[in-house]
Amino acid sequence: MARGKAKEEGSWKKFIWNSEKKEFLGRTGGSWFKILLFYLIFYGCLAGIFIGTIQVMLLTISEFQPKYQDRVAPPGLTQVPQIQKTEISFRTSETQTFNAYVVSLNRFLEKYTEAAQKDELEFEDCGDVPSDYKDRGEFNNEQGKKRVCRFRREWLGNCSGLLDETFGYSSGKPCIIIKLNRVLAFKPKPPKNDSLDKDLMVRYNPYVLPVHCAGKRDDDKEKVGNMEYFGLGGFSGFPLQYYPYYGKLLQPKYLQPLLAVQFTNLTTDTEIRVECKAYGENIGYSEKDRFQGRFDVKFEIKTS
Ligand SMILES: *[C@@H]1O[C@H](CO)[C@@H](O)[C@H](O)[C@H]1NC(C)=O
Ligand SMILES: *[C@@H]1O[C@H](CO)[C@@H](O)[C@H](O)[C@H]1NC(C)=O
Ligand SMILES: *[C@@H]1O[C@H](CO)[C@@H](O)[C@H](O)[C@H]1NC(C)=O
Repeated sequence: MARGKAKEEGSWKKFIWNSEKKEFLGRTGGSWFKILLFYLIFYGCLAGIFIGTIQVMLLTISEFQPKYQDRVAPPGLTQVPQIQKTEISFRTSETQTFNAYVVSLNRFLEKYTEAAQKDELEFEDCGDVPSDYKDRGEFNNEQGKKRVCRFRREWLGNCSGLLDETFGYSSGKPCIIIKLNRVLAFKPKPPKNDSLDKDLMVRYNPYVLPVHCAGKRDDDKEKVGNMEYFGLGGFSGFPLQYYPYYGKLLQPKYLQPLLAVQFTNLTTDTEIRVECKAYGENIGYSEKDRFQGRFDVKFEIKTS
């Protein structure tokens, strides 16, 4: 037994270093050198292929334009004041109940004041009537930064905060401001004239992406009352000359066109759910995403 073990140990030692054949772990130095060289080259090539693929991928990606634009979801439609639980609830007689909404609107509109849009290198006038998309060339910085269209706060009329500094809240006629979230290179396509219902056709303009608000359910429709829309040229929607957006790098001062809606005759002391919706060939809606192409907001004006 003991002898067998000793013999085994001896053959192990021989395997680790065989002094007769000059073999280490069963291979000669030359053999070990070849095998190490083989693996070095083999893994070197693998790493090379991997790095090369990534480099090629990076070369074809521009920092100015996304490669897979078709994967971008249609833009969301959102409102200001930005509110918890999308509920606007206040008493006209108590300033503190709506002050947060007024502050939120004023803060949002700071970028839209005349003073903030003075710089001629950054801004330009794009007219005060809707017109076609404004193509500003390729999505790269070969011509430097690109200018953006001015959007005048005055166009929001009674919802600009300039004529009525409480945006209608103190008189029970609350304003909301609607914007389409910016999506790089996105060109909103207005619907065909004949695909709209009568309500919208009245204000039809081929260069405006229409937006319309209405009571969500039938009983809301009766209670919502009149709505006044304030936007560029008096149209209720987003004019196309503000698109496409060239991104944060090329248009750091970009201003989204705005649309303000004033609810001038809301029924008081009841909850009213209002849905606002953008209409266009490439504007989609989703059951899962409540802000894709539309949103809804609940109003309650308390008098008692
Ligand atoms: C704006 O407000 C003024 C004063 O409240 C009112 O006379 C006018 O009709 C309003 N304009 C619109 C378009 O609602
Ligand atoms: C839209 O269509 C209606 C009838 O379908 C027509 O009367 C109106 O002129 C059209 N408007 C525009 C701007 O094409
Ligand atoms: C406001 O709505 C009420 C019903 O809710 C209606 O009786 C009244 O005529 C409306 N006022 C205006 C100015 O439309």
